[in-house]
Amino acid sequence: MSGIITTGEKRLVLVSGRAHPELAEAVGEELQTGVLPTTAYDFANGEIYVRFNESVRGCDAFVLQSHTDPINQWMMEQLIMIDALKRASAKRITVVAPFYPYARQDKKHLGREPISARLMADLYKTAGADRLMSVDLHAAQAQGFFDGPVDHLWAMPVLVDYVRTRVNLSRVTVVSPDAGRIRVAEKWANKLGGCPLAFVHKTRDTTRPNVAVANRVVGDVAGRQCVLVDDLIDTGGTIAEAVKVLRASGAKDVIVVATHGVLSHPAAQRLQECGAREIVVTNTLPITSDKRFQNLTILSIAPLLARAIREVFDDGSVTSLFDGVA
Ligand code: R5P
Repeated sequence: MSGIITTGEKRLVLVSGRAHPELAEAVGEELQTGVLPTTAYDFANGEIYVRFNESVRGCDAFVLQSHTDPINQWMMEQLIMIDALKRASAKRITVVAPFYPYARQDKKHLGREPISARLMADLYKTAGADRLMSVDLHAAQAQGFFDGPVDHLWAMPVLVDYVRTRVNLSRVTVVSPDAGRIRVAEKWANKLGGCPLAFVHKTRDTTRPNVAVANRVVGDVAGRQCVLVDDLIDTGGTIAEAVKVLRASGAKDVIVVATHGVLSHPAAQRLQECGAREIVVTNTLPITSDKRFQNLTILSIAPLLARAIREVFDDGSVTSLFDGVA
C-alpha cells in the first residue's frame, strides 16, 4: 500500500478571548492544558488584532469567549480567533460560548424584526467553526440555528447540588418566573424529589427593553420555601418583581437560582432589596465587583465546561455528564 501511515495523535488546545480570563484559566486548570498563549489587542480605531503565540496546526481547538458587555466586541473577537485558527490549519474548531450571544432574540415577535440568535450561528459557521458548546440556552431550539453539532450543557447539576444544601426539601416549592420556563422548573422539581410547582404570570411591554410586570402567582406558595429558577438575570426586573409577588402571596422565603448572571445596572440594587434570602448564579459571565452584593453566591461552571470539552475531544459522551438525559 502506498502512502505514509502514522499512529493518530490528537492535540487539544484551549484558546480564550479577553472577556473573562478567570473562567478560561479555571477551565484550563481543570483540563490540565492551561490556556494557549495568545496576543490580542485593539487598534486605535477599535479594530481587534489576535495572534496565537504557538502553532495550532492539526489541533482540536476550543475557543472560549464569555459574552458579556460590550458583547459586540467580544463576539467580533471570537470570530476573529476562529478565523485565525482556520487559517493556521487547526483541524477542528469548537466555539465555547457559555452564555450564547443574543440568545433572547430567537424569534420574531413583530414584523421587520431580526432573529439575531440565528445570525450569530451563521457568523460562527462562516468564520469556520465546526461545532458549538453552550450552557442553558434561552430556548433549546436555538441549537438548530447552527448547522453542525451543538453540545447544550445544563448548569442544573451544579446548581441543584448547592440548593439542596440550602433548603428543607419537604417544604420547597419550585417557581418559574414566567410561563415560558415551566418545563425547566418541572425538571428542577423532579431533581428536588418531586416537590410542588408554581409560576408567576408575567407580562412584558414589547416596546420597552427590560420592562416586566409580575401580575400574580399561579400555585400554592403560602408558608413554602420557594426556589425561583430562571436561565438568566439581566436588570433583575423579572426576578425582583417575582420575589415581591411570592412574598405577598405568603412565601416563607425565596432562593433565586439562575445560570447566567448578566446583572446589568440596576440588578445589584434590585436583587439586594427584593426580599430574597439568596441569589445563586454561575460564572458563565464575569461578575465584577460593582455587580456583587451580600447575598449573592457565585458557583463555578469551569469543572462542567472542562468535563464536556474533554468528552468532545475523546469522542466520548457529553450526555453522560447529565445522567444520560441531556
Ligand atoms: C426572560 O424570558 C428571561 O428568562 C429572563 O427572565 C429575563 O430576560 C431577565 O431579564 P431582566 O432581569 O432584565 O428582567
